[in-house]
Amino acid sequence: MGSDSLMNTEILTIDQFSPNPDTISRAANLIRTGRLVAFPTETVYGLGANAIDSTAVRGIFEAKGRPSSNPLIVHVADSIQVLNVAREWPETAARLASRFWPGPLTIVVPKRSEVPDEVTAGGPTVAVRCPNHAVAQALIRAARVPIAAPSANRSSELSPTRAEHVLKGLDGRIDLILDGGSCPGGIESTVVDVTGDVVRLLRPGLISIQMLEEVIGKVKVCDKSAGVARSPGQMAKHYSPRTKLRLIPGEDLIDDLLEAIRAGLRVGVLTFSRNDAPWAKSVESGGSYVNLSDNPELAATQLYDTLHRLDQEQLDLILVEEPPRTPEWAAIRDRLARAAVLDD
Ligand code: TXA
Ligand code: MG
Repeated sequence: MGSDSLMNTEILTIDQFSPNPDTISRAANLIRTGRLVAFPTETVYGLGANAIDSTAVRGIFEAKGRPSSNPLIVHVADSIQVLNVAREWPETAARLASRFWPGPLTIVVPKRSEVPDEVTAGGPTVAVRCPNHAVAQALIRAARVPIAAPSANRSSELSPTRAEHVLKGLDGRIDLILDGGSCPGGIESTVVDVTGDVVRLLRPGLISIQMLEEVIGKVKVCDKSAGVARSPGQMAKHYSPRTKLRLIPGEDLIDDLLEAIRAGLRVGVLTFSRNDAPWAKSVESGGSYVNLSDNPELAATQLYDTLHRLDQEQLDLILVEEPPRTPEWAAIRDRLARAAVLDD
């Protein structure tokens, strides 16, 4: 299944609320026999393989072109199945799971020896998550094994929120895509590490730091530099469209837009609040303008889908309005900062 040997990628449509058991059973059999299946979750599409089959897990890295140093999240059906992969399940993990599972929270705990090194990048911990999506749940239960699944995109590209996005990146590299429509959450899960004295936030997501702190008290936010070693998904350049993207403070947006248009560029503009006047200029000059919601949860739902769309419009540049510097926007700011080109 390497880059040279293309396989046939099958797509099966499936109802996101009441998945057809025959379809699930086909997908589960593929997982059980070491194959790769992309499936929807409440955050983004995952690229799944049997988490305790090291050969299958290596296939994920190969299909994505992902560095083997970046560990995978293991998806379980409930807090009982987690005991098959976690050597310890600390009190903090239990409290977080009972409040937020099933849901978009990934918890890093000590791993059991049965979990192959490929999953954890050789480390002593494993990241676990119980997804809140009927297709993901049914698939894990039918497969009767925990499912390792990163986002179903080529490494460092945008995460997929629709089956079409998965196909664009991974066609010919994976066995099956379960097409359950668009993912309701739209950005990846929050990742926390509960193995140390303090709980550490490794990746912001839809479960905010406030929500976590209401349940377990103080959470330490890891800045990017501190995060690189602990959570390689925090590598600066990640979640990127192919088109150059720049994150611009709202007050500078019009100047930057006009300058780019004067330079003859076709520009896409993405904002989170404004819905009128000056941005239309980008459209007049052959570009594009999208205003997402000023509600961060709604904006998250649309974010990747919009970036995927803009990425297909042959633009020279995407200018994104910097979202407010408030905690509710932390996850979106994080993803946009990674998508932006940092070197100009
Ligand atoms: O919402 C999500 O989390 C999606 C869906 C499919 O569940 N998955 C996802 O996986 O975003 P991925 O591989 O794209 O991101 C996993 C993140 C990475 O930042 C990775 O470095 C981190 O979790 N991670 C995985 N195992 C870890 C571990 N043992 N310690 C610290 N970070 C870990
Ligand atoms: Mg990813």
